[in-house]
Amino acid sequence: MSAAPSSPAGGTTATPPAPPATLVIFGALGDLTRRLLVPAIVNLVRSGLVGDDFKIIGVSHHDSSDDALREQLDDFIGKADGEGGAHGDKSGAGDPDWLKLRDRITYLKGDFEDAATYEALKDRIDGNAAFYLATAPGFFGPVIDSLGDAGLLTQSDEAFRRVVIEKPFGHDLPSAEALDERILKHLDETQVYRIDHFLGKETVQNILVTRFANTMVEAVWNNRYIDHVQITAAETVTVGTRGKFYDTTGAMRDMVPNHLFQLLAMVGMEPPNDFGSEAIRNEKAKVIAAIRAPRPEDVADVAVRGRYTAGRAGDADVADYRSEPEVAPDSKTETYVALKLMVDSWRWAGVPFYLRTGKGLAARDTEIVVQFKPVPYAQFAGVDHNRLPPNRMVIQIQPDEGLSIEILAKKPGPVIEPAPVSLDFAYSDHFKLGHTTGYETLLYDMLTGDQTLFQRADQIESGWEAVQPILDAWAADGEPEPYPAGSDGPAAAADLLTRDGRAWHKIGRPA
Ligand code: BG6
Repeated sequence: MSAAPSSPAGGTTATPPAPPATLVIFGALGDLTRRLLVPAIVNLVRSGLVGDDFKIIGVSHHDSSDDALREQLDDFIGKADGEGGAHGDKSGAGDPDWLKLRDRITYLKGDFEDAATYEALKDRIDGNAAFYLATAPGFFGPVIDSLGDAGLLTQSDEAFRRVVIEKPFGHDLPSAEALDERILKHLDETQVYRIDHFLGKETVQNILVTRFANTMVEAVWNNRYIDHVQITAAETVTVGTRGKFYDTTGAMRDMVPNHLFQLLAMVGMEPPNDFGSEAIRNEKAKVIAAIRAPRPEDVADVAVRGRYTAGRAGDADVADYRSEPEVAPDSKTETYVALKLMVDSWRWAGVPFYLRTGKGLAARDTEIVVQFKPVPYAQFAGVDHNRLPPNRMVIQIQPDEGLSIEILAKKPGPVIEPAPVSLDFAYSDHFKLGHTTGYETLLYDMLTGDQTLFQRADQIESGWEAVQPILDAWAADGEPEPYPAGSDGPAAAADLLTRDGRAWHKIGRPA
């Protein structure tokens, strides 16, 4: 996500293609590969950002072959995201850009923990290579050890070696630290690309432009003017077929120290000195490190957990979480979390950040709401300034990407009556968004060595540190509060804000 270079004519120059490389995908037959990774690479081929010198090797322990893997992907490119081709034009398996890539995909059957797999890889790799760990998290350490032991991670001036790691990165602070220590035995931090796919979303990247390219925004972006911030990632989808993974993970580990803290960092960071990846990542790391970990005795006051029960969400009937496939019938796993967090910094002292995320909710809605303080003085006779509807900025991440500013205007008539109005910017009105998987920028950045949009070890560890007291308290006692699928979440989440004289922004955009 580097800033566009200026051309001599004053515009921006075209984005250069990524260097030739081999992408080795561990977990090649999995959902991520066919649903997101390969369609994203097809989109990069289409934009001319990866060339004919780009190859993919899929690795998995299942019986398969080059042809079988390509055919499986054919099927999927034909219905990526259920919307047609990789770019949504229904061209599917006949898509010319897919056909350009198709023959350069090969399969390697191999056990992730068998040295022979890595010897076979050595014979097939020459030059730049990136290893994508689209595997269960338990394989991250073993695969990196084996790659290192086989000498596959040794770089030279002519050839880079990089590793891309999916989430979850550890399941708590000690396990994240142990994993970092293990992988950094074989790799330099500059070779490690820890993915957080939220950072691949255009609207998330736009937070930096909204803040740092607009004087009028940054001027009020502090505790003098901001009352509080709400960060919401609400989903209608339920645990679906992911019961095995989700029941041992839960909403907190799945969404908070990674996705929601990355959003918090974009909102809370100081302006970087330059747009280089280390400058940006330093500022983000500082904000995440400044999130105050609650004291054990405060956990009940600042953290709420919920679990969906039967209902209807996203136009579908939803079963009780505890009766979902591969979920324990007496599960205490949370499918919803709401938190009140404080960020101990000069800019944010006294400004609560309320975070919430959950499955089986009323609507799909990922948004950031920045609510401003009331005006300081009652200027309009008969109007209580503390009761005026607040100014708000709503950054709509998905769906309906955009940004709204809620301000007050005089309602026409003989008396002064301030009424709320909204200034709305919809991405689709101004830009052609196209159909992307969200992985295009991340893969291109990785191939070109830009780590801006990837999580650094210190960010991940500080994230775990902030939530660890809550995880510990929850593991020791109690269980999530039930909420019916299709609702806004458990009642205790509403109380979290009511106690502070505030209210959550309604989930879902008004029709
Ligand atoms: C993933 C979580 O990281 O993010 C899922 O594991 C969640 O549980 C998903 O559904 C949400 O991502 P998006 O891009 O659909 O909002």
